Amino acid sequence: MKICVIGSGYVGLVAGTCFAESGNNVICVDVDEAKIEGLKKGIIPIYEPGLKELVLRNCEEGRLSFTTDLAYAVKESLVNFIAVGTPPGADGSADLQYVLSVARSIGQHMDGFKIIVDKSTVPVGTADKVRVAVAEELDRRGAALEFDVVSNPEFLKEGAAIDDFMKPDRVVIGCDDVRTAEIMKELYSPFMRKSNRLIVMDVRSAEMTKYAANAMLATKITFMNQIALLCDLMGADVMAVREGIGSDSRIGYDFLFPGVGYGGSCFPKDVKALAKTAEECDYDFILLKAVEEANSRQKKVLSDKIQARLGNGGAKPLAGKTIAIWGLSFKPRTDDMREAPSVTIIERLLEMGAAVRAHDPEAIKEAKKIFGDRITYSTNQYDILKDADALAIITEWNEYRNPDFERIGNLLVQKLIFDGRNLYLPNRMKQAGFEYLPIGRNGKVCSELV
Ligand code: UDX
Repeated sequence: MKICVIGSGYVGLVAGTCFAESGNNVICVDVDEAKIEGLKKGIIPIYEPGLKELVLRNCEEGRLSFTTDLAYAVKESLVNFIAVGTPPGADGSADLQYVLSVARSIGQHMDGFKIIVDKSTVPVGTADKVRVAVAEELDRRGAALEFDVVSNPEFLKEGAAIDDFMKPDRVVIGCDDVRTAEIMKELYSPFMRKSNRLIVMDVRSAEMTKYAANAMLATKITFMNQIALLCDLMGADVMAVREGIGSDSRIGYDFLFPGVGYGGSCFPKDVKALAKTAEECDYDFILLKAVEEANSRQKKVLSDKIQARLGNGGAKPLAGKTIAIWGLSFKPRTDDMREAPSVTIIERLLEMGAAVRAHDPEAIKEAKKIFGDRITYSTNQYDILKDADALAIITEWNEYRNPDFERIGNLLVQKLIFDGRNLYLPNRMKQAGFEYLPIGRNGKVCSELV
């Protein structure tokens, strides 16, 4: 099938590449000339495991190409995916200017029946707006051409994007036309081997599904973060509680890891956008507002713990203290710093007068754009520990899971670890002589078996 994907960001590039991998002819389009020139040379603008190899192979085999020429790509393709950004506007609602501008361009250049697919995360009602924008351009040209607008939200996770796309839990197709639904099913059939969960529904429900899924997951994490805070106060162990409740199949174990608050390009933006949509309908979505508020507070928990343990009072309670940070990206296996809890934590430590040194396997370049030379960086996770007052873990990269504790203990001024991701066993840390402060398992009552 001939496809074009307009917008070669995270979602567009992964989707386009995976569609090419399953045998389609795919043209990826972007307005950013430098990005397209780079992609033609195999330079991938984002860090995503496995993506580079797939891009190179499919380009070499002639199924995948890159261009800034939207008119050409639209004329060549039956299915036109819109995968441009929908950044939050000043009021939290999704800004649709890029989506609608692409829709107008498609209307200006299409020369036959086209399927136009919204892959960007867009509020309920956007497909209607896209339909109007395309129709207006066709009217302007006096062209009587048929088209269909489909909503096909993407559920991939950064760091596991290829696998999520190739073996999805489900594919949601919002579509009001039987013929178009058949074409979309054909396009996705190669990816339906894990589960045949291709769910066709009306367009508005598909648009809502994406927001509801992300809001539900953000709520699940937030609920566990709040339970963790209560566990700390009550002397309970949140990881034991997670086991206890996760074993109920109605609850499940996933997305119940307490931590430093959720971040990234999706959850914070989508929770805000859904709350805004509700507000526009005069509906008071109290749960979502609470999730947002609780997550902002959660991002401060680790720095509060550091202040409580090491602070000296006064305006700069951490003056003279050095904190070593492991992990800057919002989660492992990505260099993405968008809404990363590390930003809130480090800004607060700096405000309190601490010196901050940080390690991250991938995100240092991105972090430098935010912190510049206000903090120091190292690509060696142990170098930053020398004479630091404490180690604080923010992101659960694999290289932090089983480190050389003896070396850590020898390098730090005192054996003190604040763990925002509960990577270690509290009792082992105690045996090794560390003062260990995790989230929701303060160690007081940790079972000897843990
Ligand atoms: C998310 C959704 O999972 C994906 O389906 C959607 O398409 C885009 O948004 P992503 O943002 O890449 O994907 O990351 P994800 O792995 O879901 O993590 C989001 C945030 O939640 C991270 O900050 C992570 O650290 C946090 N999280 C996740 C927790 O704090 N605890 C958990 O148990 C799980």
